[in-house]
Amino acid sequence: MLKKSRKAVVLTGAGVSTESGIPDFRSAGGLWSRFDPFAYGTLGAFQRDPRKVWRMLQELLTLVDRRPNKGHEALARLEEMELVHGIITQNIDGLHQRAGSRQVIEFHGSMANFSCPACGRMWPLAAVRQMAMPPLCSGCRAVLRPDVVFFDERISPGALHETEKLLHGADLLLVAGTSCEVMPAALIPGQVLAQGGELIEINLAPVLTGAARLSLAGKFSEVMSAIVAQITES
Ligand code: APR
Repeated sequence: MLKKSRKAVVLTGAGVSTESGIPDFRSAGGLWSRFDPFAYGTLGAFQRDPRKVWRMLQELLTLVDRRPNKGHEALARLEEMELVHGIITQNIDGLHQRAGSRQVIEFHGSMANFSCPACGRMWPLAAVRQMAMPPLCSGCRAVLRPDVVFFDERISPGALHETEKLLHGADLLLVAGTSCEVMPAALIPGQVLAQGGELIEINLAPVLTGAARLSLAGKFSEVMSAIVAQITES
C-alpha cells in the first residue's frame, strides 16, 4: 500500500514513544491516570494555579532525555525513501525529528520552548531546566508556560495550515500509537477517508478496525521495522 500510494502521510500519538520509555496518556499507569486532565491539563487550571500544574509539567521535562526507538527510525527511513510525505504528531517529545524525520507537524506544540504569559518572552528548554521549579520569568516573575496546547486551547493556526497542506491529495494515512480520542486530531483519519484515501493502523489494540483497510495489532517499533525490512528486501 505504501509503495502504491501517491502521497502517504502519518499520524502519530503517544503510543509510538512508549518503547522509548515515555508512558502514554490513557493506558494503565498513563499520565492521565495519575493527574486528572481537567485539573492539570487546561489553560484555565494553569491560570488558576500554575504551581500545581507544574507538578505535572515537571514530569514532562524529562521527555526530551529519551531516545527515538526503531519505529521512529523506520518512519524517518520511509521519508528518505520518499514513501512517506510527512508526519502529523500529537507528541511533544521531539523524537521524530531526533530520529531524522524532516516533515513533522507538532499538532499539540512541543516542550522545546516556553514563554512568559505576562510579557511573552520566550525561553528555550535548556534555560528552563536550569531554573528552580516552577520556572519564573526573570522580568515579571510570572510562571512560564510550555509551548503545548492545553485541552481548552485551539490548535495553532500555523499547525492547522501545515496539516491541511500535508493532507491535501493524501491517499494513504498511517495511524500509529494513538487512541484517536482527542479532537481535532481525531478527525484526521475521517478526512483522509472522505477524500478517497485509505487507512493503515498500528496500535497495540486497534481502534479503527471498521474504517482501516489494514489494522496491525502490535508494537510500533516491531511493526515498523518489519515494514521497512519488507520494502527494502522486495
Ligand atoms: N505500539 C503501538 N501502540 C501502542 C504502543 C506501542 N508500543 N504503546 C501504546 N500504544 C497505543 C495504546 O494502546 C493507545 O491506543 O497507543 C495509544 C495511545 O493512546 P493515548 O494514550 O490516548 O495517546 P494519544 O492518542 O497520543 O493522546 C492524544 O491526548 O492528552 C492528550 O495531548 C495529549 O497528544 C495527546 C492526546
